[in-house]
This record gives sequence, C-alpha cells and structure tokens, in this order.
Amino acid sequence: MSYTPDNERYDKSINYRRCGRSGIKLPEISLGLWHNFGGVDVLDNGRAMLRYAFDQGITHFDLANNYGPPPGSAEENFGILFKENFRPYRDELIISTKAGYLMWPGPYGEWGSRKYLLSSLDQSLKRMGLEYVDIFYSHRPDPDTPLEETMMALDYAVRSGKALYAGISNYPAELTRKAADILKQLGTPCLIHQPKYSMFERWVEKGLLDTVENEGIGVIAFSPLAQGLLTNRYLDGIPEDSRAAKPWGYLREDQVTPAITKAKKLNKVASSRGQSLAQMAIAWLLKDHRVTSVLIGASSVAQLKDNLASTNNLTFSVVELNQIEEILKS
Ligand SMILES: NC(=O)c1ccc[n+]([C@@H]2O[C@H](COP(=O)([O-])OP(=O)(O)OC[C@H]3O[C@@H](n4cnc5c(N)ncnc54)[C@H](OP(=O)(O)O)[C@@H]3O)[C@@H](O)[C@H]2O)c1
Repeated sequence: MSYTPDNERYDKSINYRRCGRSGIKLPEISLGLWHNFGGVDVLDNGRAMLRYAFDQGITHFDLANNYGPPPGSAEENFGILFKENFRPYRDELIISTKAGYLMWPGPYGEWGSRKYLLSSLDQSLKRMGLEYVDIFYSHRPDPDTPLEETMMALDYAVRSGKALYAGISNYPAELTRKAADILKQLGTPCLIHQPKYSMFERWVEKGLLDTVENEGIGVIAFSPLAQGLLTNRYLDGIPEDSRAAKPWGYLREDQVTPAITKAKKLNKVASSRGQSLAQMAIAWLLKDHRVTSVLIGASSVAQLKDNLASTNNLTFSVVELNQIEEILKS
C-alpha cells in the first residue's frame, strides 16, 4: 500500500504554465474529482489515478464541497488518499475546493453569502484533513448576494490562512471584471477563473478570455472533453460503465446522441494528426496561451495516460483548424 512517487515526475512531458500574472504555475493538465471519487465509486481506482497523476507531474487536484455522490464524499475520499499517500508532498500540490452549489438544507447551504462560503470552507478542510487549500473558489455567481460580500468572504478565507489564493468559477465576463476589481482593492488578487470550455462549449471566447487576460487572471478549463463526448467513449453507443449510463452521472443519454455525428468527424481529424479524439480536444484548448490548464476528469489510469500524451502535439495547422471549425459549425 505504501507509495513512493516517481523521482522523475518533473521530467515528464507535462509543462507548467504561469497562472495569469501570479507567482503560481499550474500543470497544463490538472485532475478534477467531480466524478469517480465519490462514495459510490471504487476507492482503489481513485488511489491508482491520483498516484499515477502525481507520478506524471500533475500537481493540481480540483475538488468542490458537493462532489460525490453523496455530496462531500469526494473530499472525504480525497482526505483518506491524501493522508495515506501525499501528506509528505503537501508543498508540491495545489489543492482547490469550491462553494456555491447546494450543500446543506436551509437558507445558508448554497450560493454566495459570507455565512455559507466560510462555513463550507471549514467543512471542506475537515473532510479533507487539510490545514488549508491552495485555491478557494466561489463556484457560481449569486444574483442575490452583493458581489462585495462574496469577494470579501474569499479575501477573508485567504487572510485567515485557510486558503492561499482566491478563484471564481462560472462568472460571466463583466462580473469577472467587477469581481477582479473588488478583490484587487481588498488586496487579494483573483488568481484564476474556472469556466466550462471545450470544442463543444465556447462561450468563453465571447469576451471572458480577453477579460481574464487583461486582468492578469489565469484560466482552468473544466469539462474539456465535454464529459466524454469528445473522446472515443460513445462512438459506438453508450458503454455500461460510462458516465452517461450511470444513474448519478451528470451526462444524460439525450446529450450523447446529438453529439456523435460531430465526434465521429472530429475523430477522423484526430487520427490524421496521430492523436486520439481526447488528445486532440485537450491540445485544441492548450493552443491558446490564455488557457493555463485543462481540467480533465477520468475514470481509469488508462484514460489519464491517453490524455497526458496530448502534450506531445499541441500545434495545429491552419488546414486542421479550419476542418475542425467546419465540423463544429455543421
Ligand atoms: N466549476 C464547475 O462548475 C465545474 C463543473 C464541472 C466540472 N468541474 C471540474 O472539471 C473537472 C473535469 O470535468 P469532467 O469530468 O466533466 O471532464 P471531462 O474531461 O470533460 O470528462 C471526463 C470524462 O470523460 C471520459 N474520458 C476522459 N478521458 C478519456 C479518454 N482518454 N478516453 C475515453 N474517455 C475519456 C471519462 O468518462 P467515463 O467516466 O464515462 O469513463 C471521464 O469521466 C471535474 O472533475 C471538476 O473538477 C468544474
């Protein structure tokens, strides 16, 4: 059971990119624990993935209070695996968590109040057995709480030593600018924005990427494989062990069918580049220097291995880019 990380973990293919204008560098590929690390999942598999990831130079693991199911169980399992494997390497890791979605009943269990964010952070630290997280995020904007209150809670989380940096997720461009201004005034600059971004989900290109670049904020793109639609997973139907087939999986069957025609065409472009579809989908995001890291999910070590090899070819010819655009528009 005992674990000794690979001594050459920082000499592998993965590179580290500066997160906005901060002092922090993140691996080009980070690992998220939204699915496959909950109470319903197999802990041995989670252990194998975290160990493999760290051995390959992945220094960033991303969580949230509600990841599971049940909610909180991904943090609990991460806590078990952290204690067992990674405690001596705490200073080599960037561990993030978030609060924003429903976590406990009553008026203080979700959204963006100071009451909710700071209580949730305390709960997350307890579940993970950590003294601090590296990044604490407001998981989504709250239309009913003053932005100042949410940002002051992030600032306080940092000042109290329970988080080292502040981040925001799912904030549109204009609100990001305002949030960044408030955080700057408070003396805790916004480190990072975590938006959904993939070949199938491109809202960030309409202003957010420019905003974060101007503000000096890094970007970590979540669901870069569109939860598996941008991989070979569903090219021949819905496998029994896939996210779309699991009752607790966030991907629904009716989202799969319409995506498959495009995925099959994209898969041909990927093959012509000598890549799997997953590899091309990751490389396509990393070609933009504003993207600091691509935040993948995985259900096996084999998938992680496949995805990590995407960094071998991050350049696209104009012809390839045009082919991809045509497919995405079709
Ligand atoms: N801030 C937010 O609001 C928010 C929201 C969602 C996610 N996130 C973060 O983003 C992370 C990643 O999200 P995601 O899991 O949706 O990411 P994703 O990378 O788009 O999808 C991951 C899924 O794709 C499939 N997959 C991955 N690599 C594959 C490969 N090489 N070949 C075939 N299939 C492959 C697996 O599906 P199977 O399980 O079916 O094998 C895996 O579970 C989360 O863990 C979380 O940290 C943040």
